[in-house]
Amino acid sequence: MVYKIVKFGDAVLEARAQPITEFDTPELDQLIADMFESMYTAKGVGLAAPQIGISKRIAVIDCSVGENEAEKIVLINPEIIHTEGKQNGEEGCLSIPGFREDVRRPNRVTVRAKNIKGETFEMTGSELLARAFIHETDHLSGKLYISYISALKRDLIKRKIRKLVKQGEWG
Ligand code: NI
Repeated sequence: MVYKIVKFGDAVLEARAQPITEFDTPELDQLIADMFESMYTAKGVGLAAPQIGISKRIAVIDCSVGENEAEKIVLINPEIIHTEGKQNGEEGCLSIPGFREDVRRPNRVTVRAKNIKGETFEMTGSELLARAFIHETDHLSGKLYISYISALKRDLIKRKIRKLVKQGEWG
């Protein structure tokens, strides 16, 4: 099932999501399959459950956007345990469509998470994957990438979004 992506302004995007406590269930399998399907439909490289209105600590990532099965990553209850280096690059978010901004991020990031069976694993990524690890883990704390840009740029984006809301072109 393809979910509608929740857009900026919805409180679920700024709430702390709840940890998963039950693993290896048909419901969890289905939710994760739906998250991949929703992400591919929206042509994203990452999606966090709050972005489909579900306040749970699950994120999916695929830097190949569906081209390579081996690049599918599921992070449940993730935490960033190590970062190093720096990268600068444009970042966007499916919940803030039509906007992209330069965001400075670490260039190498290690995440610790559980898989669909509830087993703990650690994974290190660099460049786009490092960026995705942080961006998606942040979503589960209710934090959006625009919190890393200047207040001036953030206010400009918010003003433009308010205009789109008024025109009925947002949400
Ligand atoms: Ni996002």
